[in-house]
Amino acid sequence: MTITYRRERPPLDDLIAVYHACTLGGRRPVDDQPRMAAMLAEANLVVGAWESEVLVGVARALTDSVYVTYLSDLAVRDSHQRRGVGKGLIAQVRAAAPGASLVLLSAPQAVDYYPHLGFTRHDSAWVVKPGQELRA
Ligand SMILES: CC(C)(COP(=O)(O)OP(=O)(O)OC[C@H]1O[C@@H](n2cnc3c(N)ncnc32)[C@H](O)[C@@H]1OP(=O)(O)O)[C@@H](O)C(=O)NCCC(=O)NCCS
Repeated sequence: MTITYRRERPPLDDLIAVYHACTLGGRRPVDDQPRMAAMLAEANLVVGAWESEVLVGVARALTDSVYVTYLSDLAVRDSHQRRGVGKGLIAQVRAAAPGASLVLLSAPQAVDYYPHLGFTRHDSAWVVKPGQELRA
Protein backbone atom coordinates (compact mmCIF):
# COMPACT_ATOMS: atom_id res chain seq x y z
CA MET A 1 0.00 0.00 0.00
CA THR A 2 1.56 3.30 -1.09
CA ILE A 3 0.06 6.28 0.70
CA THR A 4 0.58 9.86 -0.37
CA TYR A 5 -0.20 12.65 2.08
CA ARG A 6 -1.51 15.88 0.59
CA ARG A 7 -1.83 19.00 2.70
CA GLU A 8 -4.90 20.33 0.88
CA ARG A 9 -8.65 20.06 1.16
CA PRO A 10 -9.99 16.96 -0.59
CA PRO A 11 -13.26 17.14 -2.55
CA LEU A 12 -16.26 17.17 -0.20
CA ASP A 13 -17.68 13.89 -1.54
CA ASP A 14 -14.39 12.11 -0.87
CA LEU A 15 -14.26 13.49 2.67
CA ILE A 16 -17.82 12.36 3.40
CA ALA A 17 -17.08 8.93 1.90
CA VAL A 18 -14.18 8.46 4.33
CA TYR A 19 -16.36 9.39 7.31
CA HIS A 20 -18.99 6.91 6.11
CA ALA A 21 -16.30 4.25 5.76
CA CYS A 22 -15.41 4.38 9.46
CA THR A 23 -17.19 4.99 12.75
CA LEU A 24 -16.72 8.76 12.53
CA GLY A 25 -19.67 8.80 10.11
CA GLY A 26 -21.92 8.21 13.12
CA ARG A 27 -20.45 11.14 15.01
CA ARG A 28 -20.38 13.89 12.39
CA PRO A 29 -23.25 15.59 10.48
CA VAL A 30 -22.54 13.60 7.30
CA ASP A 31 -26.09 13.99 5.96
CA ASP A 32 -25.99 17.79 6.29
CA GLN A 33 -24.01 18.69 3.19
CA PRO A 34 -23.85 22.50 3.73
CA ARG A 35 -22.54 21.97 7.26
CA MET A 36 -19.98 19.43 6.09
CA ALA A 37 -18.95 21.82 3.30
CA ALA A 38 -18.38 24.57 5.88
CA MET A 39 -16.45 22.21 8.13
CA LEU A 40 -14.15 21.46 5.21
CA ALA A 41 -13.87 25.01 3.89
CA GLU A 42 -13.27 26.71 7.24
CA ALA A 43 -10.74 24.24 8.64
CA ASN A 44 -7.38 25.80 7.86
CA LEU A 45 -5.28 22.65 8.04
CA VAL A 46 -6.58 19.62 6.20
CA VAL A 47 -4.47 16.62 5.21
CA GLY A 48 -5.63 13.78 3.02
CA ALA A 49 -4.09 10.32 2.80
CA TRP A 50 -4.44 9.03 -0.72
CA GLU A 51 -3.96 5.54 -2.09
CA SER A 52 -3.68 6.31 -5.76
CA GLU A 53 -6.81 8.41 -6.40
CA VAL A 54 -8.78 7.07 -3.42
CA LEU A 55 -8.95 9.14 -0.25
CA VAL A 56 -8.36 6.61 2.54
CA GLY A 57 -7.88 8.94 5.50
CA VAL A 58 -8.20 12.55 6.52
CA ALA A 59 -7.16 14.91 9.30
CA ARG A 60 -9.17 18.10 9.67
CA ALA A 61 -7.70 20.72 12.00
CA LEU A 62 -7.73 24.39 12.95
CA THR A 63 -4.43 26.01 13.79
CA ASP A 64 -2.91 29.40 14.54
CA SER A 65 0.35 27.83 13.30
CA VAL A 66 2.42 28.82 16.32
CA TYR A 67 0.65 27.99 19.59
CA VAL A 68 -2.16 25.49 19.27
CA THR A 69 -3.68 23.16 16.72
CA TYR A 70 -7.10 21.65 17.36
CA LEU A 71 -7.42 18.31 15.63
CA SER A 72 -11.14 18.12 15.07
CA ASP A 73 -11.36 14.97 12.96
CA LEU A 74 -9.05 12.07 12.30
CA ALA A 75 -10.56 9.35 10.16
CA VAL A 76 -9.17 6.33 8.34
CA ARG A 77 -11.32 3.93 6.33
CA ASP A 78 -11.94 0.68 8.23
CA SER A 79 -10.32 -1.12 5.31
CA HIS A 80 -7.07 0.83 5.81
CA GLN A 81 -6.77 0.98 9.59
CA ARG A 82 -3.81 -0.33 11.61
CA ARG A 83 -1.37 0.35 8.79
CA GLY A 84 0.09 3.60 10.06
CA VAL A 85 -2.19 5.99 8.14
CA GLY A 86 -3.55 7.70 11.27
CA LYS A 87 -0.05 8.11 12.61
CA GLY A 88 1.07 9.51 9.26
CA LEU A 89 -1.77 12.03 9.22
CA ILE A 90 -0.91 13.20 12.73
CA ALA A 91 2.73 13.56 11.73
CA GLN A 92 1.68 15.76 8.79
CA VAL A 93 -0.52 17.93 11.02
CA ARG A 94 2.32 18.38 13.50
CA ALA A 95 4.83 19.14 10.76
CA ALA A 96 2.58 21.90 9.44
CA ALA A 97 2.77 23.73 12.80
CA PRO A 98 5.76 22.32 14.68
CA GLY A 99 5.65 24.94 17.43
CA ALA A 100 2.00 24.31 18.26
CA SER A 101 0.55 21.91 20.81
CA LEU A 102 -1.92 19.45 19.37
CA VAL A 103 -5.25 19.28 21.21
CA LEU A 104 -8.22 17.02 20.54
CA LEU A 105 -11.28 15.35 22.02
CA SER A 106 -11.17 11.63 21.48
CA ALA A 107 -14.04 9.60 20.11
CA PRO A 108 -14.92 6.69 22.40
CA GLN A 109 -13.48 4.27 19.82
CA ALA A 110 -10.10 6.01 20.00
CA VAL A 111 -9.58 6.55 23.73
CA ASP A 112 -6.75 4.02 23.79
CA TYR A 113 -5.25 5.19 20.51
CA TYR A 114 -3.92 8.59 21.54
CA PRO A 115 -2.16 7.43 24.73
CA HIS A 116 -0.65 4.62 22.66
CA LEU A 117 0.92 7.29 20.44
CA GLY A 118 2.18 9.31 23.40
CA PHE A 119 -0.56 11.91 23.88
CA THR A 120 -1.08 13.03 27.49
CA ARG A 121 -4.55 13.12 29.00
CA HIS A 122 -5.63 16.63 30.05
CA ASP A 123 -7.76 16.72 33.16
CA SER A 124 -9.13 20.21 32.65
CA ALA A 125 -10.66 20.19 29.17
CA TRP A 126 -14.08 21.86 29.07
CA VAL A 127 -16.81 21.97 26.47
CA VAL A 128 -19.97 24.03 26.03
CA LYS A 129 -22.36 22.83 23.33
CA PRO A 130 -24.01 25.17 20.80
CA GLY A 131 -27.24 26.56 22.22
CA GLN A 132 -26.38 25.51 25.73
CA GLU A 133 -27.16 28.23 28.25
CA LEU A 134 -24.33 29.35 30.50
CA ARG A 135 -25.14 30.26 34.07
CA ALA A 136 -25.43 34.00 34.58
C1 LIG B 1 -8.39 6.03 15.38
C2 LIG B 1 -7.88 5.89 13.94
C3 LIG B 1 -7.77 7.26 13.31
C4 LIG B 1 -6.51 5.21 13.97
O1 LIG B 1 -6.00 5.20 12.66
P1 LIG B 1 -5.10 3.99 12.14
O2 LIG B 1 -4.58 4.36 10.82
O3 LIG B 1 -5.87 2.71 12.25
O4 LIG B 1 -3.94 3.95 13.23
P2 LIG B 1 -2.41 3.64 12.98
O5 LIG B 1 -2.29 2.50 12.03
O6 LIG B 1 -1.68 4.88 12.68
O7 LIG B 1 -1.99 3.12 14.43
C5 LIG B 1 -0.81 3.54 15.07
C6 LIG B 1 -0.61 2.67 16.28
O8 LIG B 1 -1.78 2.73 17.12
C7 LIG B 1 -2.36 1.42 17.29
N1 LIG B 1 -3.81 1.58 17.26
C8 LIG B 1 -4.61 1.79 16.21
N2 LIG B 1 -5.89 1.94 16.60
C9 LIG B 1 -5.89 1.82 17.95
C10 LIG B 1 -6.91 1.88 18.95
N3 LIG B 1 -8.22 2.11 18.62
N4 LIG B 1 -6.56 1.73 20.22
C11 LIG B 1 -5.27 1.51 20.59
N5 LIG B 1 -4.24 1.45 19.68
C12 LIG B 1 -4.56 1.60 18.38
C13 LIG B 1 -1.84 0.61 16.10
O9 LIG B 1 -1.84 -0.76 16.37
C14 LIG B 1 -0.45 1.19 15.95
O10 LIG B 1 0.38 0.65 16.94
P3 LIG B 1 1.97 0.43 16.70
O11 LIG B 1 2.52 1.73 16.14
O12 LIG B 1 2.48 0.11 18.05
O13 LIG B 1 2.08 -0.68 15.70
C15 LIG B 1 -8.81 4.98 13.11
O14 LIG B 1 -8.98 3.76 13.81
C16 LIG B 1 -10.17 5.58 12.84
O15 LIG B 1 -10.34 6.32 11.88
N6 LIG B 1 -11.17 5.24 13.66
C17 LIG B 1 -12.53 5.67 13.44
C18 LIG B 1 -12.72 7.16 13.62
C19 LIG B 1 -12.21 7.65 14.95
O16 LIG B 1 -12.58 7.16 16.01
N7 LIG B 1 -11.36 8.66 14.85
C20 LIG B 1 -10.81 9.32 15.99
C21 LIG B 1 -11.65 10.53 16.26
S1 LIG B 1 -11.01 11.45 17.62
